[in-house]
Amino acid sequence: MSRSLPLLALLLALAACAPGVSLVPTEGDVAGVRPAYPDATLAQLEEGHRLYRARCGSCHRPHSPGELAPDAWPDIVADMAERAALSPDQSRAVTRFLVAVSIRAHAPPTPEDPPLGALGPPQLSRTDR
Ligand code: HEC
Repeated sequence: MSRSLPLLALLLALAACAPGVSLVPTEGDVAGVRPAYPDATLAQLEEGHRLYRARCGSCHRPHSPGELAPDAWPDIVADMAERAALSPDQSRAVTRFLVAVSIRAHAPPTPEDPPLGALGPPQLSRTDR
């Protein structure tokens, strides 16, 4: 039994990575992108989410925001905007949505995440990722 704990800890650490990240924008996401986009709003991120679902998965599977680093998205969307027939405003909304969720996906664990130590020893350091 105790020999499965390191594996469990590893699986939990992996589960904390991108695939489980919610795509629904929050006020926390707005705060996250404000340093880069001071005029970002929740409505804009929600519009970006809607457009992303409608336009970014027709030619290929929708690439999830956490797949790429936040600063990689603006160039990608600039490249994809014409293919997805996005207006400049729409392109901005999609970019900000993708950057926002990517920031969240790559953020270090928040205090609400259960500490891995709660599983008992041996502990797996979060910095091992
Ligand atoms: C009309 C078809 C089409 C639409 C719509 C489209 N894409 Fe693409 N996308 C492609 C093709 C084709 C590629 C393959 C790489 C290339 O040709 O640049 C690609 C590649 C990508 C890649 C991988 C790029 C890389 O360098 O690894 C990402 C990420 C991506 N698209 C995101 C998006 C997003 C976000 C949207 C919505 C704004 C979108 N795509 C809409 C056709 C499309």
